[in-house]
Amino acid sequence: MKRIAEQIGLKALRRIDPERAHGLALKALQHGFAVSPGAITSARLCTEVAGLALPNPIGLAAGFDKNAEALVGLSKSGFGFVEVGAATPRAQDGNPKPRLFRLKEDKAAINRFGFNNQGMEAIGARLAQRPRDMVLGLNLGANKDSADRSDDFARVLAHCGAHVDFATVNVSSPNTEKLRDLQGKAALSGLLSGVMKVRGELARPIPVFLKIAPDLSTDEIAEIAQVALATGVQGVITTNTTLSRDGLQSAHKGEMGGLSGAPLFEKSTRVLAQLSEHTDGKLPLIGVGGVATAEQAYAKICAGASAVQLYTALVYGGLSLTEDIIRGLDGLLERDGFANVSEAVGSKRDEWL
Ligand code: FNR
Repeated sequence: MKRIAEQIGLKALRRIDPERAHGLALKALQHGFAVSPGAITSARLCTEVAGLALPNPIGLAAGFDKNAEALVGLSKSGFGFVEVGAATPRAQDGNPKPRLFRLKEDKAAINRFGFNNQGMEAIGARLAQRPRDMVLGLNLGANKDSADRSDDFARVLAHCGAHVDFATVNVSSPNTEKLRDLQGKAALSGLLSGVMKVRGELARPIPVFLKIAPDLSTDEIAEIAQVALATGVQGVITTNTTLSRDGLQSAHKGEMGGLSGAPLFEKSTRVLAQLSEHTDGKLPLIGVGGVATAEQAYAKICAGASAVQLYTALVYGGLSLTEDIIRGLDGLLERDGFANVSEAVGSKRDEWL
């Protein structure tokens, strides 16, 4: 019944401004109107990533619930783990509207939100009240007008770290000018060292992940692998949105911002496979970018991902897509004779190199 309502709702939502539609979808989730299958797991699907026990390896990517407003709904949505944020130390408005565009023909989106969020105080207060029956992470961001952006990541972790199960250093959003410069070797080493110091001071040191852009050269990917291993982060999330506009058809293809969804799948999976080669199984990787089917989630895992995240496909398929992908993945693992998803990780990496 909820699935039928979801399809009707999705159709209606697609007719209105995308940012408003997203706000309404979040409200539906907050008030229990969304599809809620509860925990989805099996012996094949449950896995451990960086010490986190996941009921299944399919997660919600950052940016969907920027202010951690729908945690109860999300805890029942079927996802094996959920990442909220990005949170910055101070609240900020982000870029002027419109700043989110649907590219329907391309099954994609372009956003240039620019870290609009209510800030770590408000977000931290909600995280402190979180449901316990979910694996919850926070995406860390930096204020646009910060005097020390590197320090912002550490500050948000220090403030919110006690209430989450993992945190992600997001130096890969294309919508805050010069943020991605922090992916360079020296800047990244300094930034991650600061974050890891704060992590060490938490009563319960949680895994810290680094999230990278897809628009990196082979050399840059190799350098990031070195820095990630040297600084001791617990994993890398590959990838954020892209600046590339290759092969798009939709009217909004010329909008500025980060492109997500179907056109990002190949590019982000190649970066994932390269990073997997450079880190050689020493670091868990989380694959994200353009996943809309069980086959694509499985492809990311075989390319080197220990877990997978998605966001844009939900705009087109609704939250019920999550359950389809998870159950479909279980079937694909069974078909190929894997007793557990961890056995499939990296099994076809060479096909993406
Ligand atoms: C994002 N994404 C994102 N990532 C991040 O690390 N911090 C953030 O605040 C956001 N915000 C955000 C907003 C919107 C509207 C979108 C569409 C995306 C990126 C997201 O987490 C993911 O990495 C990419 O969207 C690629 O995955 P999909 O969407 O192709 O599955």
